[in-house]
Amino acid sequence: MALSLLSCLSLCALVPGCRTVNHRIEGGNCELNEADDRWDGILPPVSDQSFGYYRRVIPTSALETDAAHANKTCHVDHVLLDNTCLEIVATGNHNHSSALETCHRRYGRLAILDTPELLTVLGLLGPYGSAGKYYIDIVRKNDGILVWGATQVPVDLTTPAWLSGQPDDYQYGAGPEDCGSIEANGAQFFFMDTPCNLADRGYICQYGQYATRGL
Ligand SMILES: *[C@@H]1O[C@H](CO)[C@@H](O)[C@H](O)[C@H]1NC(C)=O
Ligand SMILES: *[C@@H]1O[C@H](CO)[C@@H](O)[C@H](O)[C@H]1NC(C)=O
Repeated sequence: MALSLLSCLSLCALVPGCRTVNHRIEGGNCELNEADDRWDGILPPVSDQSFGYYRRVIPTSALETDAAHANKTCHVDHVLLDNTCLEIVATGNHNHSSALETCHRRYGRLAILDTPELLTVLGLLGPYGSAGKYYIDIVRKNDGILVWGATQVPVDLTTPAWLSGQPDDYQYGAGPEDCGSIEANGAQFFFMDTPCNLADRGYICQYGQYATRGL
C-alpha cells in the first residue's frame, strides 16, 4: 500500500506502540517501528538508504495539545538545551542501571552532558541546599577511563563541571566509583564519580525533539 508521509505518520499516531516510521517518498513505502533507538547508536531497520526515518509527532499528554504548548519541541516539563530535551528528576530510589533503563523505556537515554550549553543544566538544578542527586551517563571502563556510556567518548575531566578533587575513584563505602552523578556542594551542582549501586537518586534523561525528521 502506497502512503504519503503525512498518511504514514497519521497511521503511526493511530497504532498503539508506534514510535517512529520509515518512509520512502518514491513508492510511498511506510514502515511502522515500535522502538525509537536513535540514542543507542543502532540504526533503525531501514530497507535501503532512500528511506527517511521519522519520529512520531507526539503529543503524549493533554497539556501538549493546547495552544500554549503547540510550538514546543520538548515535553512541557523538559528543558530544551543544545537541540535536545532534558528530563530532570531530582530524587528517587534509582541506581545507575535502573536510571538507564528508565530513560531507555521512554525512548531516551541517560544524559550525555558534553557541550558548554548542555552543562548549563547544572545551573538549573534546584535551589540552594537542594538534596537532588542525579545519575548521568558516565561510566568507568575496565581500563579506568571515564566515558559517556552511550557513545564511549572519554569524559572531559578538565571542565569546571567536576567538583574540585573529583573524580577520585574513592574505594570505600559503597564500593568503587564506576559511575557518574551530579550532586550539590553548597549552592552549586557538580559532577562526581560515585558507586553505580546507590539506590538513592534521580536521573537526567535526554531525548530528541519532537521533530518529524530524525537521523
Ligand atoms: C506557533 O508558531 C506559529 C508559526 O511560527 C505561529 O504563527 C503561532 O502563533 C505559534 N503559536 C503559539 C501558541 O506560540
Ligand atoms: C538496581 O536497581 C534494580 C531495581 O531496584 C535492581 O533490580 C538491581 O539489582 C539494582 N542493581 C544494582 C547494580 O544495584
